[in-house]
Amino acid sequence: MAEVVIVEDVPAAGALVADEIARLIEGRPDAVLGLATGSTPLPVYEALHRRLGGADLAQVRGFALDEYVGIDPHHPESYRSVIAREVVEPLRLNPSQIHVPNGSLDGIEHAGADYEAAITAAGGVDLQILGIGTDGHIGFNEPGSSFASRTRVKTLTAQTRKDNARFFDSIDDVPMHCITQGLGTILQARHLVMLAFGESKARAVAEAVEGPISAILPGSAIQLHPHVTVVVDEAAASRLKLVDYYRYTYANKPAWQGL
Ligand code: PGA
Repeated sequence: MAEVVIVEDVPAAGALVADEIARLIEGRPDAVLGLATGSTPLPVYEALHRRLGGADLAQVRGFALDEYVGIDPHHPESYRSVIAREVVEPLRLNPSQIHVPNGSLDGIEHAGADYEAAITAAGGVDLQILGIGTDGHIGFNEPGSSFASRTRVKTLTAQTRKDNARFFDSIDDVPMHCITQGLGTILQARHLVMLAFGESKARAVAEAVEGPISAILPGSAIQLHPHVTVVVDEAAASRLKLVDYYRYTYANKPAWQGL
């Protein structure tokens, strides 16, 4: 089962996950990180900056989960721009080592296969950071996505476009299509770390962690993975049935184990 860690607040979640990433990079300077966008992972990147801001991270490699299709890559809300602004620049990563799916219409037919080949050539992702959408999506794998899916073009749901409209001038500016790592791609990362904060994520978290494994809730795919850490605040944990057990397990966790 997933290890569920309930933290006091959002900064505590960021610090916890940043510590784990720092440990990984200390042991393996060319570690491969799976990078997520959206609001949720920002505290992780901020904590990483505080913890490793002065370090030489030029060997670290990274793969973003997804990108909008047809968006100008220089648009401030393209995931290429977001990853550059929130991750690559502050941490002084080497931009040539950080990959984002190519959402440009030119070559979109083979962009998914190209991305899969790049992940394979890097030896796979060591630690994949994940958020979860209110509809249960991970990456942009919307409800109904195959658990065997690989990086491909998907149509965003009306709910996701509404959720992401806050980043754009209007909902009409939110692209209709995206290119996203598949659930099968994500499940091949060696460690999945899912974060979620706030009451609006409580249902999706409960169903992903404890609900039936079903394509209707793509986040439930994490139950198929042998090493998953779910880091949530009290509000996002509020619908979990085994909440007392998660607290008890974490409080008694052997110190040598890490996340
Ligand atoms: P959010 O998005 O972090 O902006 O809430 C999460 C997601 O859609 O995966």
